[in-house]
Amino acid sequence: MELKAWTSDPLVKPVDDGLLGRLDDGSFALLRPVKPGDKIRIEEGLSSLSPQSIYYRFGRQLRRLTDRDLIYLTEVDQDQHIAWGAVDPEDPAETGLGIARMIRESRDSQRAEVALTVIDSYHGLGLGTLLLATMHALARQREVTTLRACVMRENYAVVSWFQRLGARTIENDCQVILEWDLVDSTCCTDSARRLLELSRRIQRLHSVGRQERR
Ligand SMILES: CC(C)(COP(=O)(O)OP(=O)(O)OC[C@H]1O[C@@H](n2cnc3c(N)ncnc32)[C@H](O)[C@@H]1OP(=O)(O)O)[C@@H](O)C(=O)NCCC(=O)NCCS
Repeated sequence: MELKAWTSDPLVKPVDDGLLGRLDDGSFALLRPVKPGDKIRIEEGLSSLSPQSIYYRFGRQLRRLTDRDLIYLTEVDQDQHIAWGAVDPEDPAETGLGIARMIRESRDSQRAEVALTVIDSYHGLGLGTLLLATMHALARQREVTTLRACVMRENYAVVSWFQRLGARTIENDCQVILEWDLVDSTCCTDSARRLLELSRRIQRLHSVGRQERR
């Protein structure tokens, strides 16, 4: 993929069925819907996670995923269960760098649970923000009004990140349950403003990309 011509300001641009985003170190990540063929990337991604990241994401240690897990994680309808992954666009094998998913509640499709993971060597480069902004954008396009996140209590960085984004803590036990109102939030922290701006850009670019492909 030709990346050199696109080096100035925009953080995201539409490509194929996804988005190309620039990370804080100047490298790129290709964000696109998860496909059934991504099972191998998810397995490799798991082995790139530290025990702490595995615990923070799954609430327990996990060495490998079963075939059933892999089917559940990759064979998604992108409506009730939305999953996007981030890969290295300069790597022909497209190594998995991160993944985000959003699963709507069966009783109320305007509410969804969101979860995200970035491999440890990419932490702190803004990839989690890009993935979460993508989930936010897709949620808004599908009229999801509330995102819920279940975060391990020790995972202070993520609990405080969601709080900076305007999420309310509704339960604080061994897991902290946060609810993020996407419509009426009045949160005006820098983090919330940045994420909202990124989400708006993604909503615009993603709908442009879809129209161009028609
Ligand atoms: C949570 C996770 C996806 C974040 O990914 P990331 O690419 O590191 O995130 P970003 O670089 O975009 O940073 C997101 C925010 O977290 C903050 N942050 C990142 N790493 C941090 C750290 N070690 N300590 C404190 N804050 C940190 C950033 O400052 C940023 O907040 P801001 O926008 O208010 O400045 C990643 O840490 C991860 O995969 N963790 C393990 C799994 C997990 O905890 N999942 C969440 C529960 S579902």
